[in-house]
Amino acid sequence: TAEPSDLADWVQRTRQGIAEGRFPARAFNDQSVYDLEQKHLFSRAWCFLAHESEIPSAGDYVTRFIGNNNIIVARGEDGTIHANLNMCRHRGNVMCKSEMGNSSHFRCSFHGWTYKNTGQLIGVPYMKEGYEGRLKRKDWAMVPVRIDSYEGLIFGTLDPESESLGEYLGDFRFYLDLYLKHGEQGCEVHGPPDHWLANTDWKICAENFAGDGYHTPVAHQWGFHLGYFPSSGSTHSQGWAASVPGRGHGVGLGHSPNFPPFGGFPPELAEEMKTVFSAEQTEVFSKVRTAVGTVFPNLSFLMQPFSLVPGEPGVRFVTMRLYHPVGPGRMEMYSWCLVPKGASKEYKDAAYRAYTLAFGQAGTFEQDDFENWAKVTRSAASTMVADVDFPYSMGMDSDPDPNFVGPGHVVTPYVNDTNFRNLWSRWGDYLANEV
Ligand code: FES
Ligand code: FE
Repeated sequence: TAEPSDLADWVQRTRQGIAEGRFPARAFNDQSVYDLEQKHLFSRAWCFLAHESEIPSAGDYVTRFIGNNNIIVARGEDGTIHANLNMCRHRGNVMCKSEMGNSSHFRCSFHGWTYKNTGQLIGVPYMKEGYEGRLKRKDWAMVPVRIDSYEGLIFGTLDPESESLGEYLGDFRFYLDLYLKHGEQGCEVHGPPDHWLANTDWKICAENFAGDGYHTPVAHQWGFHLGYFPSSGSTHSQGWAASVPGRGHGVGLGHSPNFPPFGGFPPELAEEMKTVFSAEQTEVFSKVRTAVGTVFPNLSFLMQPFSLVPGEPGVRFVTMRLYHPVGPGRMEMYSWCLVPKGASKEYKDAAYRAYTLAFGQAGTFEQDDFENWAKVTRSAASTMVADVDFPYSMGMDSDPDPNFVGPGHVVTPYVNDTNFRNLWSRWGDYLANEV
């Protein structure tokens, strides 16, 4: 583990390397890098907490993490959503030990302090006899977390001073809409998330889902060969890599010449989506087979068709995934299936089956990916890679595609490292504490 000044030098050398098209192996499994991410990145960035449809009714809650902080996200009696550190203010006990449920109040299992699910302290045993008027309940509410939402996605930040969520997402909202505005009612989760621990660094997943079209024909080649996936090795590079410069967000948009516009959705849903999207979004969407993107730092989306029966037309599904770091080279994955709220039960169930088959916990594509990601993470811990870089120079001289109507820096083909340089450049800004 490097000394602090060595680490600061390493961060600066790494940022220089990113600008020149390199990234260090060490970043993917190192205690000091992990600690620095906790200190400067997860303490300040807007991080995903939950989808509003996970807590639809008053009293519904989930517990999630931002960095190493466990947070209760709950819907109050008046319908508003609140987020608080999952810690009793008396001696720090964990207040809520379930991952999801419904409760108007939380009562601490240690000495019995009781809070509303908004975080307000309302009950203190032996208040009069013990504190004799010295303790004011209003001074000891749960520690609140600043939250905001976009299209049903609830984000939180531990930094009360940082920019708004809208500024943080910036032009990436154009691409987020392609996953979320599936009809007038938007999307909802189809059941609770799958989640599991993995010996994988969160950054490998964030990068892969920022648009790694390069790996698909190799890592997932059986999917092509067996007819689960309507692309082919020869056409797979077609499409675009779109990123929001300086923001870290990026999406890979895969295009297959023979894949029909809005393919894989029920026709009536496709028509409704066109009325919700802008004209530019409709134009982009109609060319896209696969859209795989990352909201910096650790939330990703994937929309793609997948055949329930090989050779038959694919069903288009959307998955949303969160890579929660729990240590160097170790993370907890949360994986949801999102479905259009207004769609038929038949389509929702089919989309969920396609998601489960491809990207659920035991999903076929999921297994392909984790096999590789865990090995990359293992290599990164090797002492011999302390000064080994990887090339990130693909598409470095590409000019933006002048005919593409979506915002951001958009280059073609889809197989390109541009989004990854943008992702790691933003990561470097945070680690250097220059955001
Ligand atoms: Fe919660 Fe004492 S730690 S009441
Ligand atoms: Fe993959």
